[in-house]
Amino acid sequence: MNSGGWDTDLGGVFLGLRPHLVLADPAYVKDVMTKDFSYFVDRGIYQTRKDPISVNIFSQSGAEWRSARAKFTTIFSSAKMRAMFPMVLDCAAGLDGALENVNQGSDVDTLEMMGCYTTDVIGSCAFGISCNSFKHPDAEFRRMGRKHFEEFTVRDQINLFLSINSPGLADWLGLSNVQQDVAEFFAKSIKDTVEFRENNAVRRNDLLQLLIDTKNSTDDVDDIAAHFDTSATTASMTLYEMSRSSEAQEKAREEIVRIFKKYNDEITYEGIAEMKYLGQAVDETLRLWPPVTTLTRVCTRDYKLNESDLTVKKGVTVLIPVLGLHYDQQYWPDPLRWDPSRFNEENRNDRTPFAYLPFGEGPRNCIALRFGLMQVKIALATILRKYRVSLSPKTVTPLGMDPDTFVLHTINKVYLNFERIEDDAVRL
Ligand code: HEM
Repeated sequence: MNSGGWDTDLGGVFLGLRPHLVLADPAYVKDVMTKDFSYFVDRGIYQTRKDPISVNIFSQSGAEWRSARAKFTTIFSSAKMRAMFPMVLDCAAGLDGALENVNQGSDVDTLEMMGCYTTDVIGSCAFGISCNSFKHPDAEFRRMGRKHFEEFTVRDQINLFLSINSPGLADWLGLSNVQQDVAEFFAKSIKDTVEFRENNAVRRNDLLQLLIDTKNSTDDVDDIAAHFDTSATTASMTLYEMSRSSEAQEKAREEIVRIFKKYNDEITYEGIAEMKYLGQAVDETLRLWPPVTTLTRVCTRDYKLNESDLTVKKGVTVLIPVLGLHYDQQYWPDPLRWDPSRFNEENRNDRTPFAYLPFGEGPRNCIALRFGLMQVKIALATILRKYRVSLSPKTVTPLGMDPDTFVLHTINKVYLNFERIEDDAVRL
């Protein structure tokens, strides 16, 4: 096989000082993520008991993770998502309002715009807080979200280095790879909201309420907040790709306008699900720009790789190269071309399983896959219905991928221009 220039199914890399086994063959990936998952339950993310905030569903291992996962699975059920749908729509209305104030032809930093929207969504659905990030871009909630993903001090980097290379020492020193002011801010926001609701008998159909009602710890809510950047990247990169393909953009817009019309000019849960082409465009964007570019699993018992002489020793971290698989021409002909038709009904069935992993796979995959896609599609439908999107000359291409961020960010910013479409055309 030929993955990203390799001529092998297996390989090894050092991350810092620690060796990792790289699985470049989807068949091995399938075994590790699903069939033999019981050997590979843990992600191997550093956590320390000295900092409770570092212990969350993403980093937990074994039995602790299983119980957290069971709790969150009910929270992201379809019924609960439907209940949160109106809250997401409110945030999309904020996005719509913000676009009305954008001067035609001005250059919009698209990731920042989508970051404001996903901050509002998480603030509303997870914390029960109205952030209004578009009106107050420097409000604490948005500032902390931005800091969490974009600003790393030398101290943060040293902590991260030690937590990867010498977790025992890092634990002994009580080091945390979560920025303390960010973590404390989110923890305090949750505490204040819980207290307010309890003292004033206020209820809301959101995630925090579900945790309160099921008498679960609300600590995991700030872990949820850490994931909003993935959706912001997805929405922003889909707009970028659409700005470079007017044909795809028009096709998506026709579909959006038709479905808006069918549902009396409103965005509905059913309508969003019916936007198939828009869904394909997002799926293809997640192939070219997967927010999480590599996945890890730690081997918890010695494990023999199927049809090979290799035994993976207990304690070894296995690395799954999502980006490498997504760019492998063996599975994706002409891999650098953005082409939503790869994900239509017909082509979908011909795909090699486990060569497409934007949400991971198996029992430890993204728990909020449908919620993530829902909020992205709502934002895109809101924008594309009314605006023609084009690439600003200010955008420097190729965009490049920033090696220093956990969630994929481009090195150069994506600036887009938004041209308002006449109302008559929008209403067909
Ligand atoms: C387009 C948006 C998103 C993408 C691409 C994405 C991607 C991922 C990926 C790749 C993983 C690791 C899966 C694995 O190891 O197999 C993951 C895990 C996770 N994601 Fe997402 N995610 C998105 C949105 C969200 C949102 C909005 C939330 C929360 C509201 C969320 C919550 C989580 C959690 C809690 C986990 C850990 C699950 C576990 O360990 O059991 N994700 N996500």
